[in-house]
Amino acid sequence: MMSDQRASLKTARRVTTRALMQSKQRGERWVMLTSYDALTAELCDSAGVPALLVGDSAGNTVFGYDNTIPVTFEEMLPLVRSVARGARRSLIVADMPFGSYQSGVRDALKCGMQFIKAGAHSVKMEGGRRIAPQVRALVDAGVPVMAHLGFTPQSLNVFGGYRVQGRGGEADALLEDVGELERAGVFAVVLEMIPAPLAKRITSSTRIPTIGIGAGPDCDAQVLVWHDLVGLTKEPRPRFVRTYASLRAVVTESVLKFQDDVETRKYPSDAESYEEEAEPQRAR
Ligand code: KIV
Repeated sequence: MMSDQRASLKTARRVTTRALMQSKQRGERWVMLTSYDALTAELCDSAGVPALLVGDSAGNTVFGYDNTIPVTFEEMLPLVRSVARGARRSLIVADMPFGSYQSGVRDALKCGMQFIKAGAHSVKMEGGRRIAPQVRALVDAGVPVMAHLGFTPQSLNVFGGYRVQGRGGEADALLEDVGELERAGVFAVVLEMIPAPLAKRITSSTRIPTIGIGAGPDCDAQVLVWHDLVGLTKEPRPRFVRTYASLRAVVTESVLKFQDDVETRKYPSDAESYEEEAEPQRAR
């Protein structure tokens, strides 16, 4: 049976940013998953996932780009709308794509507000203190903001590859970034690919929940990309990914069997075909 502690984010009501922040005080762990369509949103929502991220990882998982950098606001908007239609109670976080907020407050407000109108309850932005003005403006305008620090995929070209961040002298700068963003009003922060001891220090230094992805076991919550979780993506996957199913093999097998059944005339059978006369018992 589920403990009372775990049950507190699993109410019938919509999960709020406030509820996620309060869960930290209770030491309650929770998950966020990416979602890009109504079907997976409905599945995760029914399974009690408190937060769904319409991630710009859609660049890889949906649009077939090599990374998240080419993703545009126009591509993200229909995904946000679909997830909003599928989720009844999960808090929806819309990822602000590269180029939609870095140049200033005006762009950030425009993009953030459109996402909220499309059904998101909050937005996520990558970056440290340099985006504090955008965070303040969005929060003032009624748009809750989740921050994203450490390895921030939109800065892939600056990092020169998929590298762990926050080692050595970078650790203090990251801690200061979290403090600055908290003061600017973010309600949570994603920590991606940083050393586990640093994530632990950050988590105990802040009142906002930390959401880890490749940041060790001491974050308040964990996030994974849906396609990684269910084993749809190709190997090799990042070291921090744990797959809970092997859907890539299941889907491939289904496609091969369907092709074979059609080619060998086993599909469709008579039972899967319609008579000329309507059958009273079978509506479809
Ligand atoms: O876009 C995304 O999926 C993300 C997660 C990896 C946190 O930003």
